[in-house]
Amino acid sequence: MSDLNKFKRYTVTSALPYANGPLHIGHLAGAYIPADIFVRHLRLRKKDVVWVCGSDEHGAAITIKAKKEGITPQQIIDKYHQQIKESFEQFGIAFDIYHRTSSPVHHDLSQEFFLNLYEKGEFIERESEQYYDAEFDQFLADRYITGTCPNCGNEGAYGDQCEKCGTSLSPTDLINPKSTLSGKAPVLRLTKHWYLPLDKYQPWLEEWLLEGKKNKWKTNVYGQCSSWLKAGLQPRSMTRDLDWGIDVPLEEAKGKKLYVWLDAPIGYISATKQWAADNNKDWQKYWKRQANEEDNSCLIHFIGKDNIVFHCITFPSILHAHGEYILPENVPANEFLNLEGDKLSTSRNHAVWLHEYLEEFPGKQDELRYVLTSILPETSDSEFTWRDYQARVNNELVAILGNFVNRVMILMHKYYEGKVEGLADLKDEVLYGQIGKAYDSIQESIENYKFRQALSDLMDVARLGNKYLTDKEPWKTFKTDPAATREVLQNCLHIIANLGVLAQPFLPAASKKIFSMLNLTGDAFSYDEKISFEDGHQLNTPELLFEKVEDAVIEKQLEKLLNKAQEVAEAVEVSPAKENVNYDQFSAMDIRVGTILAAEKVAKTKKLLKLTIDTGLDTRTVVSGIAEYFEPEAIVGRQVSILVNLEPREIKGIVSKGMILMSENPDGKLIFVTPGEGAVNGRVIR
Ligand code: MF3
Ligand code: ZN
Repeated sequence: MSDLNKFKRYTVTSALPYANGPLHIGHLAGAYIPADIFVRHLRLRKKDVVWVCGSDEHGAAITIKAKKEGITPQQIIDKYHQQIKESFEQFGIAFDIYHRTSSPVHHDLSQEFFLNLYEKGEFIERESEQYYDAEFDQFLADRYITGTCPNCGNEGAYGDQCEKCGTSLSPTDLINPKSTLSGKAPVLRLTKHWYLPLDKYQPWLEEWLLEGKKNKWKTNVYGQCSSWLKAGLQPRSMTRDLDWGIDVPLEEAKGKKLYVWLDAPIGYISATKQWAADNNKDWQKYWKRQANEEDNSCLIHFIGKDNIVFHCITFPSILHAHGEYILPENVPANEFLNLEGDKLSTSRNHAVWLHEYLEEFPGKQDELRYVLTSILPETSDSEFTWRDYQARVNNELVAILGNFVNRVMILMHKYYEGKVEGLADLKDEVLYGQIGKAYDSIQESIENYKFRQALSDLMDVARLGNKYLTDKEPWKTFKTDPAATREVLQNCLHIIANLGVLAQPFLPAASKKIFSMLNLTGDAFSYDEKISFEDGHQLNTPELLFEKVEDAVIEKQLEKLLNKAQEVAEAVEVSPAKENVNYDQFSAMDIRVGTILAAEKVAKTKKLLKLTIDTGLDTRTVVSGIAEYFEPEAIVGRQVSILVNLEPREIKGIVSKGMILMSENPDGKLIFVTPGEGAVNGRVIR
């Protein structure tokens, strides 16, 4: 049995999602389905466990979204907190509390943490030059700044982190930094901040992590940690120049806010505090070191891999510096889930959104839970495809689990009107042994965070049932050996009941259906509750557990993904409006209809074409950067719009007189702005 068993109490957390958008399947597969299975399992073992989560409502993620939607940050968090909470509930993600970091309990506790460390003299105070957007009159924290990652070359890295390689960054590490507000290169300005001396904690972290966790943690998690430690940790600022967040509780820090990655994980603690207050519990038992080490709670963080540094380095350092708190026993982070061959992306709208799935697949939450559990990115990135979804639902849920339960229920009703007779314990030694083994292996896998394996072992129990039924052929023996037939079918009822118990962490809705068909009442059946049927027990009418997914349903989803990509491509190309010009400025530009008479590539360049244009005024040369998109021969004879009074410029030794007007299609390919039918060379475009 696993290490976990030495604990009396468990504190389980799942990453607090930013309340800046809806949830998609990647969220579920990262930090929520695994934790839900794990916690439901612990509850079935009657363990004392609290599982907390909530919305992360601070940081630039929120304010940037607010700016985009043209509403206030408060409106953003209120909107998405509600939506996210509902999606979780609908999918049966059964947190003990889904809290929010905008709550007063959380603000107070975060400030208390900051002051605790401040008064101990833990922070380094530093004045430094930070990026500032002069146009927007604002310092650029974290996500307000993007640039090229110095580690992997990703051009979309943020000021605090590169999401591609996971490296944690400072804005000044970025190559070619750009403000996300104005799009311009920022300037440096002096400001004061409070830094957590991670370098000072490094020796302690090394001992705790490298020595303590080497053999327990997943290699993907441990590997990331050890490479950061090898690179050497740097002090990290815990305050920000922002106008949204928790106030830094110091007189001299007026207008500054706590860094979101300081307050967010404290959100786990404040959520527990709220839950304890609501349920008459002592929150400190779940978070603080107890007088006797054996009484400490077991702290487990479920997260996605982009959060590893904050949960394995920063937050433990904060807890350690504070001194009164326990540290995580494990951080079973998942890798990423991809969708149809591409990264899930909110900005490109390449995602399966939970609120949309719920609408389009009502009552089919377990199907998605099942498929996602089968492909959880436990050790490496994995991929969701709609065809695979269809195959797993049809060939596994319907054909194996659903079919077994259905066959038995139908026969019980057909032969015996659904009435159980005789002492109905499982009367097959072999089956009994096999089911017992499944209980052990499933639990062992769950406690070692191997949820895919656990699910596959669960399905093996259903396979076992199907095989037993097929071998015994009760439909053949019914006439000849009624007693044996009844025993076989009633043994099958036991298999079904055990499937119901074992499926609870994975397929909560299907389990409930199973118990209701079997007419067994009770909210949750713990593992050690003995299931038996009394003489004369009446089964309820059978209902199908799962339905086949038709091709048309899948095709519709695939088409939807394509359409979304198209819409986004069209939408994102729209750049902000330029400043007004007056009429004179406009009419100063002499734009005319012209025709391309000749075109050739400019030697030693990739992008340039030398065009000969009949402008109606003259025949002239224009150098145009369109060679990547057009073959020279293909555009000869084309009518174009040309700005004829642009100052001549020499490009690669050729004097270019004018500019051809171009636009872009959704893929970013240049296209001509073509004059309409009947246009005549030399006529003005106005
Ligand atoms: N909001 C963060 C994200 O979505 C996760 C915060 S986890 C917590 O990446 F530890 F800060 F709570
Ligand atoms: Zn990178």
